[in-house]
Amino acid sequence: MATYAELAGRTVLITGGANGIGQAMVEAFHVQGATVSFCDMDEAGGKRLAKRLAKRAEFTKVNLLRELEIKRWIAKVAKRHGSIDVLINNAARDPRIKFEDVSSKDWDDLFAGNLRAYFLTCREASPHLAKGASVINFSSITRFNGPEEMSTYVATKAGAIGLSRSLARELGSRRIRVNTISPGWIMTDRQLDEHVTPAIKRELRKIQCIPDLNQPDEVADVALFLASDASRAVTGQDILVDRGWRHG
Ligand SMILES: NC(=O)c1ccc[n+]([C@@H]2O[C@H](COP(=O)([O-])OP(=O)(O)OC[C@H]3O[C@@H](n4cnc5c(N)ncnc54)[C@H](O)[C@@H]3O)[C@@H](O)[C@H]2O)c1
Repeated sequence: MATYAELAGRTVLITGGANGIGQAMVEAFHVQGATVSFCDMDEAGGKRLAKRLAKRAEFTKVNLLRELEIKRWIAKVAKRHGSIDVLINNAARDPRIKFEDVSSKDWDDLFAGNLRAYFLTCREASPHLAKGASVINFSSITRFNGPEEMSTYVATKAGAIGLSRSLARELGSRRIRVNTISPGWIMTDRQLDEHVTPAIKRELRKIQCIPDLNQPDEVADVALFLASDASRAVTGQDILVDRGWRHG
């Protein structure tokens, strides 16, 4: 893992930090010496991680479908730390639902968690974002390859790109950067439990330029870069972390 000395002491907010890529990012920013305030609706997982990291890791139980809980979380962090240096919208759900079976409620719920929550955290954090702050929103490789049974998810992930590009313009004059990360297929515990079969591993090794499977800490490394001053001239961009799955 690279070290970015300037991240020590910075205040970093991460949604969905109890598991998967979010957990890897909580750990990575913690190693840099940052103060990491992360939320999740997985209370047991969040508390366990905060306890293991001890100092400089603060967990708050938040259901990102609820505006009031988002408002309270961000207001609490801003009050405690004064300003926010990094905001990472990571939490999302990716259910597989055949298109004909997607109900309006499925559609609305997924948009509420995967996109409305991103808008709400950005809006609530905006007055507290420090000069030079970095916002990172999670999109997905699926917006290029459009897999079956994920139409709503893919629509939310395309929305995250639009939101981020527009915010990059709007917040740029305050020297705030807004970028997205689009992970390829990342071997999180949940993906391995629910979706990744030996056949999928073989297929990924064949189609990616680099055949190794993608790991959560590798996405976290890119988030560190986008949060650091090393990427101070990068805004409005989408960084694919997919070992060249989407190539050409
Ligand atoms: N893992 C992959 O292969 C992959 C690929 C492309 C994009 N992504 C994106 O990366 C991000 C992280 O994915 P992951 O695979 O680590 O997910 P994950 O399911 O392993 O973890 C997501 C976390 O978010 C939390 N969460 C979900 N909805 C929430 C809500 N309403 N309120 C509070 N917390 C909530 C969950 O409890 C969980 O801890 C997501 O935006 C996802 O779309 C992941």
